[in-house]
Amino acid sequence: MLILYAAFHGVSRTLIRVSTPGKVTLFGEHAVVYGEPAIATAIDRRVRVEAERRGDDLIRIEAKDLTLAGFKALLSPNGSITLEGESKKVLAAISYVKRAVELIQEKYSVKRGAHIVITSEMPVGAGLGTSAAVAVSVVKAYSLLAGIELNKDECAELGYNVELSVQGIASRMDSTTVAVGGILYIDPKAEKTYEGIACRRGFEGLVVGYTNREASTGEMVERVKRFRDDVPEIVTPLINVIGEVARKARTYIEAGDFQRIGALMNINQGLLEAIGVSTSKLSQMVYAARCAGALGSKITGAGGGGCIIALAPGKEYEVMAALRAIGVSAFRASPTSDGIKVEEG
Ligand code: MEV
Repeated sequence: MLILYAAFHGVSRTLIRVSTPGKVTLFGEHAVVYGEPAIATAIDRRVRVEAERRGDDLIRIEAKDLTLAGFKALLSPNGSITLEGESKKVLAAISYVKRAVELIQEKYSVKRGAHIVITSEMPVGAGLGTSAAVAVSVVKAYSLLAGIELNKDECAELGYNVELSVQGIASRMDSTTVAVGGILYIDPKAEKTYEGIACRRGFEGLVVGYTNREASTGEMVERVKRFRDDVPEIVTPLINVIGEVARKARTYIEAGDFQRIGALMNINQGLLEAIGVSTSKLSQMVYAARCAGALGSKITGAGGGGCIIALAPGKEYEVMAALRAIGVSAFRASPTSDGIKVEEG
């Protein structure tokens, strides 16, 4: 039951539940950081954030089943974090929550204590946009606690700022896709930076394979940047071709031409290998999926471990079995048009 009361910024509630989908990048990760277009889709697995008002101005963060060991943390007003059950991933996840809360506090001059509980239906920090989903969910939930109504685009923009300040470098792709939902063509240089793509035949047959992460998104983005700075005459054209692949893929997705979409995924994978973001395990997963009948397969997200996607309409179970046979987790994923949602009741 929701208890309503009047607050300085309008009518605010004491308990807010928000959910936001994860996402997979179909084409264009890394290149999008340099202004090339990319295609991403929200998927039917969600991050859930519950924010409840506290009587004081402390922020308490609790993560229950982020597919990492449960942890608790207390953020004091001076910005310091007290952790119970510390690990690198836990700290990374908390940084997104902390920054999201700080941004709302700074932008709207609010200071309000909250107990924030996060759960996730997918592995966190695996390249499925969970950091963006956590960031936009906390932005939405904490702002609503303060009586501030932000629309999806505003949540996406603030979520992007959270990612930027935590990672040092980021694109708007993840935060936009998870906030807005659907299959999106992201073009950082266009006047309209994203557009929904309608697939004529319905986009089905996606399988996600997941292995442990060896490096964070920030580290992988930094690694590509160093490589590009070192040999720009080689790496810049590779990045440009990734952009060309995404442009072409848009027309094939609209037409529902899965054979050609798969072929372009394989080209994109080759280019991701070339810019150095694959690992032997990721490449093994990519080839296991193709050998089991996938039309195309590639890394999704930043690489350095994490996830691959395979496009395997009608062969999803064979591909999942092949991935499990090499010791990695696998699940089906379907595009969803549902972006960020406030759960009522
Ligand atoms: C991470 O999901 C995708 C990258 O392109 C980084 C970004 O776009 O922020 C590697």
